Amino acid sequence: MTLYKAILSYMDPGLNPYRPGAGLQPPELTGRDAQIKEFDFLVIRAKHRTVDRPMVMSGLRGVGKTALLNKLAGMAEQAHWITVVTEGQTTNQGVANVRRRLGAEINAALLRSSMGSRMKAGMRKLGALVSAFSLTLGPTELSFAPKPAATGLLDVDVETLVLEIASSAREDERAFAIFIDEMQDIEPELLSAFIVAQHRAQQKELPFYVIGTGLPNLPTKLSSARSYAERLFSYSVIGPLDRQASLEALVLPAERFGATYTLEAAEFLVEASNGYPYFLQEYGKAIWDLASDRTFTLADAKNAIVVGQAQLDAGFFPARWDRASEKERAYMVAMTKNKRTASVAASLAKTMAELSSVRQSLINKGLIYVPQRGEVAFTVPGMADFIDRATAQ
Ligand SMILES: Nc1ncnc2c1ncn2[C@@H]1O[C@H](COP(=O)(O)OP(=O)(O)O)[C@@H](O)[C@H]1O
Ligand SMILES: [Mg+2]
Repeated sequence: MTLYKAILSYMDPGLNPYRPGAGLQPPELTGRDAQIKEFDFLVIRAKHRTVDRPMVMSGLRGVGKTALLNKLAGMAEQAHWITVVTEGQTTNQGVANVRRRLGAEINAALLRSSMGSRMKAGMRKLGALVSAFSLTLGPTELSFAPKPAATGLLDVDVETLVLEIASSAREDERAFAIFIDEMQDIEPELLSAFIVAQHRAQQKELPFYVIGTGLPNLPTKLSSARSYAERLFSYSVIGPLDRQASLEALVLPAERFGATYTLEAAEFLVEASNGYPYFLQEYGKAIWDLASDRTFTLADAKNAIVVGQAQLDAGFFPARWDRASEKERAYMVAMTKNKRTASVAASLAKTMAELSSVRQSLINKGLIYVPQRGEVAFTVPGMADFIDRATAQ
């Protein structure tokens, strides 16, 4: 039936506007006005030399954190800020990568932003500082003698560099921002260094901003790195889209290419997605490809759920599930029926102590988090249902 319809389809798959996938910019970024306004306000005030608290946004996987972070980074670039975008990584190799790339990225950001601006004059000094700083960061370059500008202590050097760049930017009515995705995976030493630098910048009223996104445990991570991190950032939770924003996320991209939804078709997809952007993109993509007419009907929507769900079961969910060991999977299976760690342990006939390393490794892999003391939850929406489906066969 699906194949038959696809052959008769009038909808050109090449024009399909929907973009399911990690970090892909959506055709229409809806429902994030609060964060976009807050950042817009921060940018305007920075121009007038008022320094506001930077933003930290947390939420489940597939909820649209990366898309939002990239949108904010784009706004900063439009305002001619010096911007660096980076991402935390869990593996040891990833940790080294983040460090190694940071110096190079800061350098590139400085070059980009100094083009045709007054900052050119200060560039040589900053350039020297960045290369000295790269020595602190890069384990491979440590065989060279450190230049005098760098102490080799990560937190001191990050602070020196950041404040120097921020004060040059300030003279130019600009600002310096580091956008960090998957911030919960930034190694503790670098994370503390960023927090300390952010703290100093605020004390000195210098326009430096760490803008971060990450899993729901990110705020806790930040405050355990430095307790004052609680007051340093403006925190918000990125949740599923409300009904209106969900409808717009589906309908607006289609309309741009001359297609529409009947109200019940759009509502059916919105309902099935629970407002999760990843699911909306997947269902939108499916309905576009299988509909036989430019008006998408309820019947199309029902088929789209089947196709979209199969896509999710082949991509979004196994991307996490496949990274788990046997023991970790058993733990997650138990989690589908229990949210308290004590009852997970009871259902596996183990003590909580016996399970603590499995639980910790699931947290480190970003598969689960601790919503509150004594409880565990999946970082992936719909994971429990997926596990039921995957383990039913
Ligand atoms: N506000 C939004 N409106 C519509 N689609 C969105 C929105 N935010 C993200 N998306 C889409 O949802 C999917 C997941 O987004 P992503 O930013 O990767 O999520 P996260 O980083 O939270 O895991 C992508 O396909 C993206 O295009
Ligand atoms: Mg992401």
